[in-house]
Amino acid sequence: MAKLEIHLGDNLEALSRFEDGSFDLIYIDPPFNTGKAQARTRLRTIRDDEGDRTGFQGKRYRTVRLGASSWNDVFDDFMAFIEPRLREAHRLLAPEGSFFLHIDYRESHYCKVLLDEIFGRECFINEIVWAYDYGARSKRRWSAKHDNILWYAKDPDNYTYRYDDIDRIPYMAPGLVGPVKAARGKTPTDVWWQTIVSPNGREKTGYPTQKPVAILNRIVRVHSNPGDRVLDFFAGSGTTGEAAVRNGRHAVLMDINPEAVRVMAHRLVNASPIFYEAGCPVPPPQVETSRNASNQRSGSGNTGFLFPDPPN
Ligand SMILES: C[S@@+](CC[C@H](N)C(=O)[O-])C[C@H]1O[C@@H](n2cnc3c(N)ncnc32)[C@H](O)[C@@H]1O
Repeated sequence: MAKLEIHLGDNLEALSRFEDGSFDLIYIDPPFNTGKAQARTRLRTIRDDEGDRTGFQGKRYRTVRLGASSWNDVFDDFMAFIEPRLREAHRLLAPEGSFFLHIDYRESHYCKVLLDEIFGRECFINEIVWAYDYGARSKRRWSAKHDNILWYAKDPDNYTYRYDDIDRIPYMAPGLVGPVKAARGKTPTDVWWQTIVSPNGREKTGYPTQKPVAILNRIVRVHSNPGDRVLDFFAGSGTTGEAAVRNGRHAVLMDINPEAVRVMAHRLVNASPIFYEAGCPVPPPQVETSRNASNQRSGSGNTGFLFPDPPN
């Protein structure tokens, strides 16, 4: 059975406890430029034999609080915030591993320049555009209805890419390709059409920034092998965890927001997650089990997850 860990706390500190090359696939969807106030405590973990925490290989660490701040999720702060976390992602990636950064058009180009510097420009493989076409439309400019997902490989000559596991999509003009090809469908390009999580659908957890599990399902299936270790250190409602566990991968999820951990605890209850805080196992959070009762799957093939099978 796939193992699942859920860590509550600042990811920069939590990441420092893992060994180099620990993960085969890392996906992150950080909060970006939302204009909403964010609270941040700045911490630094220092090696100290007298420290109060135990980290990798039993070494002792001391956590120094550098200060607390709230920020409006504006650009300058975002780049300063994300850079050390992107460096950790590179350190933690296994030799054949892939890193995916889910971002939007306002920051994607700045993040690409930074990632080119951290990974090496040759390690950039694709910019995936997730197009969703939902919601109000502007009368003053072309409505922005896409997110960007930047894919970097640790080694551009040797990375996991399970071509045969790509879900196929219908041809636009099936009459032009013949019945066999039309029935088989085609592989997607770097533009992925996928509706957002429906506000009334069964997939919805209520967590505001939840991404469709179909997107993560594709990334997990193609960019990792069964039994691999997947990391999402801005996990939110646990979409990456659901995709990983469903596909037989182990997952480590992190979030600083206790509400996110509660949502994940509820969503992923049947994967028997182990919860951590400050590197130590803690009891599962209390979750309300009746809230999403209408989301329960029913009928044959029910694996116990709260949500229906992701669309392909
Ligand atoms: C855009 S949401 C992720 C949504 C997720 N992909 C999903 O499908 O639900 C970003 C998450 O990052 C978390 N976060 C922000 N700063 C963090 C930090 N320093 N450490 C860990 N998590 C953080 C927020 O609490 C939020 O849940």
